[in-house]
Amino acid sequence: MTDIQELLLSRIRDVADYPEPGVMFKDITPLLADPAAFTALTDELAGIAQRTGATKVVGLEARGFILGAPVAVRAGVGFVPVRKAGKLPGATLRQAYDLEYGSAEIEVHAEDLTGGDRVLVVDDVLATGGTAEASLELIRRSGAEVAGVAVLMELAFLDGRTRLARALAGAPLEALLTV
Ligand code: PRP
Ligand code: MG
Repeated sequence: MTDIQELLLSRIRDVADYPEPGVMFKDITPLLADPAAFTALTDELAGIAQRTGATKVVGLEARGFILGAPVAVRAGVGFVPVRKAGKLPGATLRQAYDLEYGSAEIEVHAEDLTGGDRVLVVDDVLATGGTAEASLELIRRSGAEVAGVAVLMELAFLDGRTRLARALAGAPLEALLTV
């Protein structure tokens, strides 16, 4: 493990049985509150944006906003929010995805992504991959290209990587930490 990985991991708090019994919640708020760790995280993800030739960073509501916005600024590219349905005022593309119980919908402003864009999706955690997969579908439907997906942490035991493979179509999935 690199020094940066050790720093990031040390600032993520495991919370047992949250939000329900049997779930180990990964709390990133200690990392956000530590300027050295948050800066290191931003720099790592911005490096991925630059290496993949991204022209836009998409952040997934809500924690993907916190990470994605400074990454976009650092990488010198635009930031586009993918929101839970019903929050964006303009013309949107909307995508449904399955949750453990039921389903959810996410949206993006249609005008924010165009055929000339290469888009890096940024989020904190890749779990089942449902949220990221739906965001990749939105990007594909917008006509933009997928540059990749970059997350702070991949929960490998849930195998979101396999679920995402088809939607990534060869683009990279980069996780700074795998647990
Ligand atoms: C969490 C996490 C990821 C997503 C991963 O978001 O921040 O976005 O779940 O799960 P998946 O890979 O199984 O889709 P959540 O919507 O729970 O909360 P948030 O609004 O705090 O980001
Ligand atoms: Mg989230």
